[in-house]
Amino acid sequence: MIIQHRNRILRRTAAIREMVAETQLRPGDFILPVFVTEGKDVVEAISSMPGYFRRSLDKTVEEVKELWSLGIRSVLLFVKCDDALKDNTGKESWNPDGLMQQAVKAIKDAVPEMVVMTDVALDPYSEYGHDGIVDVKNGYIVNDETVEALAKMSLSHAAAGADFIAPSDMMDGRIGVFRKALEENGFSGVGIMSYSAKYASCFYGPFRDALDSAPGFGDKKTYQMNYANRVEAINETLKDVAEGADIVMVKPAMAYLDIIREVKNAVTVPVSAYHVSGEYAMIKAAAERGWLDEEKAILESLTSIKRAGADLIATYFAKDAVRLLQS
Ligand code: PBG
Repeated sequence: MIIQHRNRILRRTAAIREMVAETQLRPGDFILPVFVTEGKDVVEAISSMPGYFRRSLDKTVEEVKELWSLGIRSVLLFVKCDDALKDNTGKESWNPDGLMQQAVKAIKDAVPEMVVMTDVALDPYSEYGHDGIVDVKNGYIVNDETVEALAKMSLSHAAAGADFIAPSDMMDGRIGVFRKALEENGFSGVGIMSYSAKYASCFYGPFRDALDSAPGFGDKKTYQMNYANRVEAINETLKDVAEGADIVMVKPAMAYLDIIREVKNAVTVPVSAYHVSGEYAMIKAAAERGWLDEEKAILESLTSIKRAGADLIATYFAKDAVRLLQS
């Protein structure tokens, strides 16, 4: 038999496979989500995210120092807000002395070069667990008032020293409003990583446990996207780029690899993908039962997300991945 192209030649040894590998993960690809809570010396387990923790500020700073030494260059901050501070305006979110603002300052003081990104949405601050202000007459999340509130939130993050704000609210017109607010208030160096194509997904469940931020009524389908849609993701993303987004994001990641690729092909800004809490929990749960090899599942998942077109990956596995890449 004479076979012209023997494709298996390029897979014959580990060295050859490495030589022709098209996709490589590196520590700088990762953005690690970090959950901050009130108190001192607190490290709390999150039951639906085994091996993941909420930490008080002091412990968060220790952790971020370690992350930097491991080669992780970016953290995405989320805070768990006291129930007593939650209301329908979300005003705690722009408190200059709020937990988020304190966390940004503390991290930038301790590790000035760490790229600090902050989640911008009202859900941790909302008595209803929604990303925006609720019209209590009909349960609708009002767009424009929410964008105004989130602009204040964004400015307070910028004032605290955030490098990027990361709006995850999916309101219309927000990126343009935030860019303008940043420019007008002396924060021209602060970037925007927009959650451009964020789907209404069941895979956010464990995250909502972590921050106690599950919607009190209804769901998020009037603002987050329908997972049946593809073209709409391009529409959302192109609008965010036109309004001034520096980095765009697709979220979740594993069930949306097609979207990541299409977005990558449609824009010239960096594309990030969020490997979300439920995707973390699935791997952890299967590994706990001995049904999956956790380390292999992590590397295969993250490499696939990068191969799909993600330049950056927000993932709860960032620390594990960096450790695995080094070993
Ligand atoms: C808040 C926000 C959510 C996530 C990131 N920012 C939850 C939601 O939209 O309900 C989910 C992250 C994850 O599941 O890991 N707007």
